[in-house]
Amino acid sequence: MSRNSGKLAVVTGASTGIGYELARCCAEDGFDLLIAADEPEIHQAAEDFKKLGVQVESIEADLATISGVETLYDATKGRAVDALLANAGRGLGGAFLDQDFDEVRHIIDTNITGTIYLVQKVGSDMRSRGQGRILFTGSIAGFTPGSFNATYNGTKAFVDSFSFALRNELKDTGVTVTCLMPGATETEFFERADMLDTKIGQSKKDDPADVAKAGYEAMMSGDGDVVTGFKNKVLSAAALVMPSDVLAEQHRKKAEPGSANK
Ligand SMILES: NC(=O)c1ccc[n+]([C@@H]2O[C@H](COP(=O)([O-])OP(=O)(O)OC[C@H]3O[C@@H](n4cnc5c(N)ncnc54)[C@H](OP(=O)(O)O)[C@@H]3O)[C@@H](O)[C@H]2O)c1
Repeated sequence: MSRNSGKLAVVTGASTGIGYELARCCAEDGFDLLIAADEPEIHQAAEDFKKLGVQVESIEADLATISGVETLYDATKGRAVDALLANAGRGLGGAFLDQDFDEVRHIIDTNITGTIYLVQKVGSDMRSRGQGRILFTGSIAGFTPGSFNATYNGTKAFVDSFSFALRNELKDTGVTVTCLMPGATETEFFERADMLDTKIGQSKKDDPADVAKAGYEAMMSGDGDVVTGFKNKVLSAAALVMPSDVLAEQHRKKAEPGSANK
């Protein structure tokens, strides 16, 4: 019997990409799953994970909304959540002043508001029980002003910072908080952010299965964070000492619309 039999992991954004692979890591390690995303594709992911021999429930909910988060939380039906992997997120390429503000707000509400609302609800239960693991999917994007994906990078700066603050608040409670900080990863992210005509959109990226495995292991070890891949470790270390203007200019070169052809 697996060490996690009978335990429950909640994974958001588990229909594709890093979240799908995080959910797979949980299921392969014996966790039952409650998974969520905004589109019906989440139910197909659930069918995939059931083949791994665990119980799986899937919820379709817009986690940018308070009601969407509550729908997911209510689906736990009072069952203890042993691991919460708050992974759902999206980007929005292009020049900020030309963007539709509803779309901008949806990025903020998904990556920040919905994420921390869910973490507050589930985290409170974990603290009462004196145990639990929380994983945020942050990003190394949080270290860099993200010209032409500005709102997204700002949200990830929030998540990276918030994760460490919450970790500190919860020390000695039995609840651990970990931040997974990937670099560019081969998922649907860049297509959904309308960034396929950018240098970064066209670049070779990390394998989401490798990224998720590193995040899952860090969460299970109770580490504070994990930056995946050697190149990303160098990029994030450099970002700590480089002037923000320089970082923003570098980001422009890889994220400006049309940069793939320059
Ligand atoms: N790919 C990268 O280069 C990269 C690098 C660093 C960090 N990240 C972070 O990794 C996380 C996963 O992204 P990914 O790269 O795996 O991209 P992805 O393949 O586009 O997956 C995003 C997941 O989040 C879900 N989602 C997005 N908005 C949602 C909402 N409002 N409500 C419910 N579900 C929502 C999507 O489901 P629906 O399709 O149903 O909306 C999907 O399951 C994100 O937080 C992203 O910021 C990605």
